[in-house]
Amino acid sequence: ETVEWDPEQAGKGEYDHFMLKEINEQPTALAQALEGRIDPDTGRIALSDFEPGTFEDIESVQFVACGTSYHAALYGSLALNQAGVQSTALLANEYSVSAPPIDDDTLVVAVTQSGETADTLNALRHAADEGASTVTVTNVVGSTAAREADEALFIRAGPEIGVAATKTFSSQAVMLTLLGQRIAADQRGDPSADRSSLLAELAAMPDAIEDMLAVSDAEAIADQYANSQSYFFIGRGLGFSVALEGALKFKEITYEHAEGFASGELKHGPLALVTPDTPVFAVFTGEEDEKTLKNAEEAQTRGAPVIAVCPADHRAVEVADEHLEIPETDSDLAGLLANVQLQLVSYYAADLLDRPIDKPRNLAKSVTVE
Ligand code: G6P
Repeated sequence: ETVEWDPEQAGKGEYDHFMLKEINEQPTALAQALEGRIDPDTGRIALSDFEPGTFEDIESVQFVACGTSYHAALYGSLALNQAGVQSTALLANEYSVSAPPIDDDTLVVAVTQSGETADTLNALRHAADEGASTVTVTNVVGSTAAREADEALFIRAGPEIGVAATKTFSSQAVMLTLLGQRIAADQRGDPSADRSSLLAELAAMPDAIEDMLAVSDAEAIADQYANSQSYFFIGRGLGFSVALEGALKFKEITYEHAEGFASGELKHGPLALVTPDTPVFAVFTGEEDEKTLKNAEEAQTRGAPVIAVCPADHRAVEVADEHLEIPETDSDLAGLLANVQLQLVSYYAADLLDRPIDKPRNLAKSVTVE
């Protein structure tokens, strides 16, 4: 008698899909990303072999990336702007036609989990040709991006098999938060003493995600809304990048129509699509939440069910139809917790619809053509 041994099946362990396994690996992935990178006494952020002051002359930062990595880049760029450093996130495939001016005080950060995405490599090469300093934030040691960039920062997320990126997004966002704080600290000439609460909350992220995963209501929410016509995701600031990522994840694996909007843009067009058959997931990060709540209520008035992704004591909980709870944290990190809840909603909705979750049609884990 022979025993069928499918190594891929075995790799999933107790989980039905790699995606669910990888969602659940996020506490470990983030602990690995953070390991040894924040000095608990001084608040100094140690990255690669960057000497203190490495980034002191950088005048602007351009992030280039595609897909989910672009959403992490957007997250990193907004966080860096908030830390007082001029930055933008650009789609790598648009970069050759629309790159902002580059000089030798520009830092270009290529965010690519595989390190092999053709569009991102092209952008990286263009930046280097123009004289920028380059860094890649990647998961793959020895990848083309890691070899070609001046410096590589490894997110240490471990292998990700599911085509839809989950843990690599969270690890990239954490890595970019560290890089952003480090750049800001170098420019101030002082380790990030005034951001000690952010660094403490960063260190607490693995536990916060673990706790949240243990009690998530995402499956029940997916169950309730899995037969809707369209799915909308809204957020402001860092929450906007999470809304975009929530919608991308949802469309990738459920094959249902989903869109992410800046909360404030809803009234400038997308509201025309809102009906009782278009659930709206509203991400609250603690910044200008009153405004996002107002935008969500505008959708609710048109009959759309609103699912608030926010902490338990948030005012949105009373207003919304449903609640996906996230633990209290720094407003720079709340979006990352919200994103994990949205990953789970997408996963359970796709599972109910019987989609091939780990290998969605027409998509590849890494796209090495332009
Ligand atoms: C492909 C994948 C996406 C990924 C994108 C960028 O399109 O399907 O999930 O976000 O490539 O990949 P990278 O390896 O550069 O992060």
